[in-house]
Amino acid sequence: MISLESKVVVVTGASKGIGLAIAREFAAAGSKVALLSRGAPKKNFSLCDFASGGANCLHFKCDVRKLSELKKSITQIKKQFGRIDIWVNNAGVGAHKPLTETTEREYDAMLDTNLRAVYYSLKLLIPLFRKQKSISDSCAGHIINISSGAARIGAANLAVYAASKAALNALSESVANEVRVDGIKISVLSPASTNTNLMRNLTAKKPGRALSPSRAATKLTVEEVAEATVFLARQNQNAWTSMMDIRPLQIRK
Ligand SMILES: NC(=O)c1ccc[n+]([C@@H]2O[C@H](COP(=O)([O-])OP(=O)(O)OC[C@H]3O[C@@H](n4cnc5c(N)ncnc54)[C@H](OP(=O)(O)O)[C@@H]3O)[C@@H](O)[C@H]2O)c1
Repeated sequence: MISLESKVVVVTGASKGIGLAIAREFAAAGSKVALLSRGAPKKNFSLCDFASGGANCLHFKCDVRKLSELKKSITQIKKQFGRIDIWVNNAGVGAHKPLTETTEREYDAMLDTNLRAVYYSLKLLIPLFRKQKSISDSCAGHIINISSGAARIGAANLAVYAASKAALNALSESVANEVRVDGIKISVLSPASTNTNLMRNLTAKKPGRALSPSRAATKLTVEEVAEATVFLARQNQNAWTSMMDIRPLQIRK
């Protein structure tokens, strides 16, 4: 397994939920972590809480839907940490309603965040990783895209969200086959329903309300998704997992 000590890891959508948990998990493994989001991380959260200490974990304000902001963040991260080894495209949005009620604005928000932003990141990172290869023998770079189980099986009232994630899967798998020859890995991790604000707001009658313990047991925790992400990043140089699903063992009775 690859050591993640001192690897430079970027996590998008890291102000809360799954992204914040992924950032914490990499930091605990000794990585230098750049957290990207439009807003600052949660109020009660200090970057110094991270195992590796404040200086190795920095937040960069970035709307991933904007190419100019992504470019600026990459420049800032390279200036701060010297290179980028692993990039986790986690930022995502969803709107839970029948297709006939989904507005064009919501459609654009889902496609722009869940797909266009990843397309932008690939266009910026692939040339960067190709250049990095010349200075290191190891894997030139790893991009991990957080998709969703809904991409494969669909989900009522989440049609556009599911479609955006299905397109993300196809984009990732296709580009992965273009760049594997350069030692660049692109992996997709598809979690089932995970206990976050996004999931609660999507599915609950009263947004933001905590789940009952029996219902929570049928969801993944953010830590479980974060551990799976770090597992993918640790895989040996020559081993590439293109797609991985993660589900809770318990099902709703
Ligand atoms: N929760 C689930 O059940 C579940 C299941 C499968 C897959 N997923 C996927 O997992 C990922 C994370 O979901 P989550 O449940 O943790 O959601 P969440 O709690 O709502 O967090 C979403 C994160 O994305 C950021 N974000 C949204 N739009 C952004 C933008 N334009 N630019 C930069 N950052 C942006 C948000 O920060 P700001 O608002 O501050 O920018 C926030 O940090 C998503 O891709 C989601 O589709 C979730």
